[in-house]
Amino acid sequence: MLINKYTKLSDVILARYNCMPVILRFGIPFGFGDKNVEEICRQYQIDADFFTEIINVFIDEDYFPQTHLQEFSVKTIIDFLLKSHRDYRDRKIPYIEKLIESLEWKSPEAQKNKSLIKNFFREYKNEVIEHLAFEEKEIYPYALRMEEFLQKKIQLKEEEISKFLMNSYEEQHDDIEEKLLDLKNIMIKYLPPASNLDVEQMVLFEIFRLEKDLNNHARIEEKVLIPKVKWIEKQLKTINNL
Ligand SMILES: [Fe+2]
Ligand SMILES: [Fe+2]
Repeated sequence: MLINKYTKLSDVILARYNCMPVILRFGIPFGFGDKNVEEICRQYQIDADFFTEIINVFIDEDYFPQTHLQEFSVKTIIDFLLKSHRDYRDRKIPYIEKLIESLEWKSPEAQKNKSLIKNFFREYKNEVIEHLAFEEKEIYPYALRMEEFLQKKIQLKEEEISKFLMNSYEEQHDDIEEKLLDLKNIMIKYLPPASNLDVEQMVLFEIFRLEKDLNNHARIEEKVLIPKVKWIEKQLKTINNL
């Protein structure tokens, strides 16, 4: 099921509950009543077309309207990417850490499994935080600057368009979700089960969700943001005869 601007937001969640975090990430709290996507977006000053496309990307893994997504401004795209970064850093990752902290094994000997999972996840968290910080410090500001140059038709010098930044970002945009596969394997295949299996199951559920979410996030960066910024760079070169 894909949604459109006239779909009731409550129906979206009832049909596809996995899009809930994305809706909340846009800053839309529950209590939608019978309002549809367009009405809610107007209320929260969100671009309804963009919202609809993003929700569809998250609810249907075969749906990725690359060309349409590239038509939105860099600012709109980055606003959403930044909201996602905040969600990963401030909510999702700390929540998984908390769950891992409450894992228990019966024997003191087996408790070392907890340290193993904790250390693995801590290392992973550090890598993610570094990745997000690099994008926030280098990539996003550069992308926004390029868009501003183009919109305001600002005359610029050759050195203001980086020869390497977008290419090296594209090449090195490593899959930060891949390491989560190792963690899942460690827990599912090799470690003895925790005595509170329900918590262990919740940890795994959250890891699966985070992995999927990061995967969609990376697709937006690689298939929408990067080509869009490269297109802007090209336009700027032509306009400025560089
Ligand atoms: Fe990102
Ligand atoms: Fe990224």
